[in-house]
Amino acid sequence: CGIVGYIGRRKAYPVLIDGLRRLEYRGYDSAGVALINEKGELNVYKSVGKVADLERETEGKDVSGHVGIAHTRWATHGEPSTANAHPHCSCHGNLALVHNGIIENYATLKEKLCAKGYVFKSNTDTEVLVQLIDYIQTHGAPDLLTAVQLALREVVGAYAIAVIDRNRPDEIVAARKSSPLVVGIGEGEYFLASDATPMVSYINKVVYLKDGEIAVLRAGEILKIVDLNNVECAHEAQTVAMNLGQLEKGGYAHFMLKEIFDQPDCISDCMRGRINPNTCEVLLSAVDTHKEKLAEAKRFVIVGCGTSWHAGLIGKQLIEAFCRVPVEVEYASEFRYCNPVISSDDVVIAISQSGETADTLAAIELAKQRGAFIYGICNVVGSSIARATDTGSYIHVGPEIGVASTKAFTGQVVVLALLALALGKVKGTLPEKEYHDTVAALMEIPGKMKQVLSENAFIADLSKMFTYARNFIYLGRGYAYPVALEGALKLKEISYIHAEGYPAAEMKHGPIALIDAEMPVVVIATQSALYEKIVSNIQEIKARKGRVVAIVTQGDTVIRSLADYSIELPPTLECLNPLIAAIPLQLLAYHIAVCRGMNVDQPRNLAKSVTVE
Ligand code: G6P
Repeated sequence: CGIVGYIGRRKAYPVLIDGLRRLEYRGYDSAGVALINEKGELNVYKSVGKVADLERETEGKDVSGHVGIAHTRWATHGEPSTANAHPHCSCHGNLALVHNGIIENYATLKEKLCAKGYVFKSNTDTEVLVQLIDYIQTHGAPDLLTAVQLALREVVGAYAIAVIDRNRPDEIVAARKSSPLVVGIGEGEYFLASDATPMVSYINKVVYLKDGEIAVLRAGEILKIVDLNNVECAHEAQTVAMNLGQLEKGGYAHFMLKEIFDQPDCISDCMRGRINPNTCEVLLSAVDTHKEKLAEAKRFVIVGCGTSWHAGLIGKQLIEAFCRVPVEVEYASEFRYCNPVISSDDVVIAISQSGETADTLAAIELAKQRGAFIYGICNVVGSSIARATDTGSYIHVGPEIGVASTKAFTGQVVVLALLALALGKVKGTLPEKEYHDTVAALMEIPGKMKQVLSENAFIADLSKMFTYARNFIYLGRGYAYPVALEGALKLKEISYIHAEGYPAAEMKHGPIALIDAEMPVVVIATQSALYEKIVSNIQEIKARKGRVVAIVTQGDTVIRSLADYSIELPPTLECLNPLIAAIPLQLLAYHIAVCRGMNVDQPRNLAKSVTVE
């Protein structure tokens, strides 16, 4: 879900709508806005669907006022409906509240409030919170801040909230616990949002709220931040380095397509300053600063979700190859509940584009408690995970807006490669020649990505052949296996075609039963140590009449003659091949989804940043 708030001299409504649009990638089941007008009336508008639907809903209505809060929702409690959309109001009609997160003890709180005569209009946990604040406020709390503090002391769960009170039109009270919230500081005005993207066109100074902090925003007054016990919290404004161009589509039909095409530049940005082009030395400041700790680790455990987990699988192979230390890769959601065997001998690498994924954050907290050293690999600067880790490296690929991750994946793999190289050097486990050859090959990746992107028109044509498909299989081995998983995930996410990624040799233990003349099988069959074995796998598929799309290395003739369609990649080292092999699979998924008329940037039921469990 996404939260936006504004208080100041501007008209709040356009700021809030613009902000919601920028946060729509976080959820888009329903949206709503609450404003206090000059007469002190509270106007709340909500609608099911996108921000555009909300705008239609407000046509011709009173959207005046200089203070307001707004929300775009990804449903957890209660189906997407107008009643369940935020903001939620207290039954006395004074308060409006938006919330991101989950109130775990909402049922108990609701029961208590019902017994006191409170009537509920929605099935959400959020409405319980606003009614609770109302109850406390009408039972003697001197002001809104105190009522919020007292209410939050009774709440178990995760939240980022913003509340306004029509009797106090000069303030917004906002609080955070385990869900992100950023305050933007302007001249006599404040912005509030789940991340900095909605505010960068207005201001560049922000304060990231920490867990347990409550901010009181009053136009023209200095920012006040306190905790639940009303103790003042020191805070420091940071400068956000994001420009508006990075948040626009720049002529592409979709953000996803732009982000796919951005990859050569993103990867160059990610490597900038981290490789000395003259000496081919890798300099990763986190590795430099924590040499001993990292070199002495007995084991690395990588945690992440979705695409980040796939990058982790590649990271495992890179670190094991270059550093000769065992690496495990876990879904953060499983790790946090499996009582993992973790100690101070371990380094946990947490990978997250958004830096806000609730499961990954919880996995970090658990690993920290057990004494592990935590290394974060995030994209969003200043995000919760970036701040929760002991050290880390940003991927620096710029804001990723398309819900299906593309450039973040390749950015994560680049950082993992740099980490493995730098650490392999420190540990002395990576022969000098291999180190230099790999760094040199890494520097050539952006150029090779450009060559792959020039196949776009061919891949778009190819995609038309597959819009009929109901299933897809993706196969790869070694470094290409996680790429197969990622290719299948991309297709599922945006085209709603069922797709499975499999290690190619495992095919004969199950998925081969599915193969017939209807079944497209995408095989990553580039030059590798196991090339001959992949050739056999393709023969097995063709013997059962499967339709093979092979990703091959330029100049390949053997597989070209076997496969129905081939996409050529320039040659590179096997360990870096995922960086270029991912691209045709991203494009294939993109074009198939476009052919099928799907909403590529905002696929149904998904959210970009999953800040709930
Ligand atoms: C969601 C997104 C995926 C992403 C995953 C992990 O499911 O839709 O694209 O890979 O979360 O997100 P993170 O921000 O932690 O990388």
